[in-house]
Amino acid sequence: MSKQTISILDNTTARTTDLPVIEGTLGHPTVDIHALNSKLGYFTYDPGFASTASCKSAITYIDGEAGLLLHRGYPIDQLAEKSSFLEVAYLLMHSELPNQHELDTFVSEVKRYSIIHEKLRGFIDGFHYDAHPMAMMVGVVGSLSAFYHSELDMEDPEHRRISALRLLAKMPTIAAACHKHSIGEAFIYPREDLEYCENFLNMMFSRPSHQQFYIDQHHYLDPMAAKVLNLLFILHADHGQNASTSTVRLASSTGANPYACIAAGIAALWGPAHGGANEAVLSMLEDIGHPRRIPEFIKRAKDKNDSFKLMGFGHRVYKNFDPRATIIRQTCHTLLDNLACEDPLFDLAMELEEIALMDDYFIERKLYPNVDFYSGIIYKALRIPVNMFTVMFTLARTAGWVSHWLEFMSDPNRRISRPRQLYVGVGPRDYAPLDKR
Ligand code: ACO
Repeated sequence: MSKQTISILDNTTARTTDLPVIEGTLGHPTVDIHALNSKLGYFTYDPGFASTASCKSAITYIDGEAGLLLHRGYPIDQLAEKSSFLEVAYLLMHSELPNQHELDTFVSEVKRYSIIHEKLRGFIDGFHYDAHPMAMMVGVVGSLSAFYHSELDMEDPEHRRISALRLLAKMPTIAAACHKHSIGEAFIYPREDLEYCENFLNMMFSRPSHQQFYIDQHHYLDPMAAKVLNLLFILHADHGQNASTSTVRLASSTGANPYACIAAGIAALWGPAHGGANEAVLSMLEDIGHPRRIPEFIKRAKDKNDSFKLMGFGHRVYKNFDPRATIIRQTCHTLLDNLACEDPLFDLAMELEEIALMDDYFIERKLYPNVDFYSGIIYKALRIPVNMFTVMFTLARTAGWVSHWLEFMSDPNRRISRPRQLYVGVGPRDYAPLDKR
């Protein structure tokens, strides 16, 4: 640890204290404030954790100014170009890229765990037909905890590894089952002869009752679809201490069941300021409806008295460019060209992107299209239903959530997360009986 310190002078009492500065391998030096209260009697106030590191982590590094994203040291563009989603999931979980044997073993384990308990399907069937798939995901993934609880020894690394694998493996099966339930079609079982993204697409789109298999025994499939999905999953696999990952860590800090913790992460992901943005982008495009209405919506986005924001623009961390958006933007344009998509929403999206990128308001605030602006458009081009967009994000981010869970659970210094608060309510007062109020 570095010997660097930072001195804090309390102007009220003239007391000074030195706080240690911790250096990570990359990134900003970080002041260790945990002794601040005992030394000076203060807490710190940092809404939205804008300046606060909530943990130490060796999984993902982000430099928002430079537009840099590294997983275990590997730049996202190299992973996106050269690896598969399961290879990246292995990297996140195990710290190193797998060799061929390790990857084969990992892939076959994921396949083996992809089947869900028949009784779990009862939970899915219990939902009303029009339940939002994300609502179903929160409930069904949470209910996995009822299936895998009593025998789970959270102090055993092998038990933890199996829990992480189960989550990664079952998530596509559950997601596709939720979709099938919402459209009233039969559940499609996972297939071990298909790779991860192919298998998911097959479970989403096959209709056995009509003898229509999305992927038949000759593995026929639009090769672009699984490839693009694989890329999107890599780009969404992890992103440091974002809101949903922090939620998973916070829930885990109590020692809660891992399936329940991941369900908490899914709930946090659902919001439009986070994973729900890809769905919100499509709703916004539908609301705009026609390119001639773009200026009206741009004006609204800039109006401080209007709560409307341009969905899919801006990012808490990236204030220059989102490297994932740079990669996905190209894919988005290529896909739309290749599929010769007729949907006018795609033209509208491209025009909105162009207009916003030239507008001073967005330039000054460094508001660029984020990864979800393009992912929503790509999912639409792949015929994924709009209400499944955030579910797609869930599948990918599960790799990150379970990796952070594994990291947190193996930390010998883990403590329950218990933030302080700045109380702004009324002071102590006496209870008045009903007839005296
Ligand atoms: N449209 C219009 N104005 C915006 C937008 C937007 N999408 N995003 C930020 N701004 C403005 C803010 O009003 C603020 O303006 P001001 O300085 O004049 O007050 C300025 O830009 C800075 O924005 P903040 O709100 O401070 O940025 P913050 O880091 O808190 O929020 C967030 C980031 C939540 C992503 C925000 O940009 C947003 O809501 N974007 C739309 C939703 C979205 O796309 N979310 C997906 C995020 S990516 C992900 O989760 C994978």
